[in-house]
Amino acid sequence: MELDYHPELRDLTIRRPQLKLLEDVPLPDWVVDNWETVKNFQAKPDDLLIATYPKSGSTWMQEIVDLISQNGDVEMCKRAPVYYRVPILEFFSDNNLPTGIELIEKMASPRMIKTHLPIQLVPKSFWEQDCKAIIVARNAKDSLVSYFHFHRTCHLVPEPGAWREFFQRFMNGKVNRGSWYDHVKGWWEAKDKHRILFLFYEDIKENPRREILKVAEFMEKVLEEDVIEKIVHLSSFKVMKDNPMANYTTLPTGIMNQNISRFMRKGEVGDWKNHFTVAQNEDFDEHYERQMGHSSLKFRNVL
Ligand code: A3P
Repeated sequence: MELDYHPELRDLTIRRPQLKLLEDVPLPDWVVDNWETVKNFQAKPDDLLIATYPKSGSTWMQEIVDLISQNGDVEMCKRAPVYYRVPILEFFSDNNLPTGIELIEKMASPRMIKTHLPIQLVPKSFWEQDCKAIIVARNAKDSLVSYFHFHRTCHLVPEPGAWREFFQRFMNGKVNRGSWYDHVKGWWEAKDKHRILFLFYEDIKENPRREILKVAEFMEKVLEEDVIEKIVHLSSFKVMKDNPMANYTTLPTGIMNQNISRFMRKGEVGDWKNHFTVAQNEDFDEHYERQMGHSSLKFRNVL
């Protein structure tokens, strides 16, 4: 199998982006500088959007959705890296990688599209076309830990700085894609206004079969029993971790250096306990209550 997807980038270490504010949301400068193109993106009625705050299980959902649409055909789902099969809508970079929109425009319908944008920045055409969207939300503490490690490895986001600095920036919403709190609340509030399936990472971990069936139903796909079993297996952490078409090892180390930390890092619930100090946890809980206390969006306890 040809795994050298980006030979021209093999020896390159790309510049990390600066964050720029777009309607008060920090985004990589590449995205902000190309915003008109994103904003004017024309969705089609059968486009399926997968939307998450970063590090909440979007790659997992991309793989699940592709496996469902390919009826569990493992070879078809290895046709390209996951970021080509389900491109990131707002992806722009400082090098020769194709932009998300270039990839999407080459796709046959029904197209599967991923975004980490907060709902207010999603191009209007998705709602004008009444597109469906699948949201995956993950508890804030594990998202924060996963995001910190991702920043250490990936040059598509700024340097993380020290853990305690990153921790503070995350709470203050000063990281790429902005406030976790606003992001999840925004999508939660939209779930009854659009055709939205709102899922939780922790629920998929607890019972992948149950959640995969919800996704299949939402996609109006009827799956045979053996196909369901296959999809549960192929989308498990253990299998995806070793699948080059899902684990991002097709990206050169100058973009994502997985010698520092794997993209498929742990895939667990509650890893925050290995990172938060007692004092940090208290601060975090107090701040969390102020941000989320009034919302009907409740995450399960991951103590
Ligand atoms: P960790 O860093 O905690 O391991 P995203 O795809 O949105 O960037 O999210 C990445 C996070 O989802 C990482 O979390 C990654 O390991 C986890 N993940 C990816 N595939 C998974 C799977 N099949 N099962 C459980 N977790 C998965």
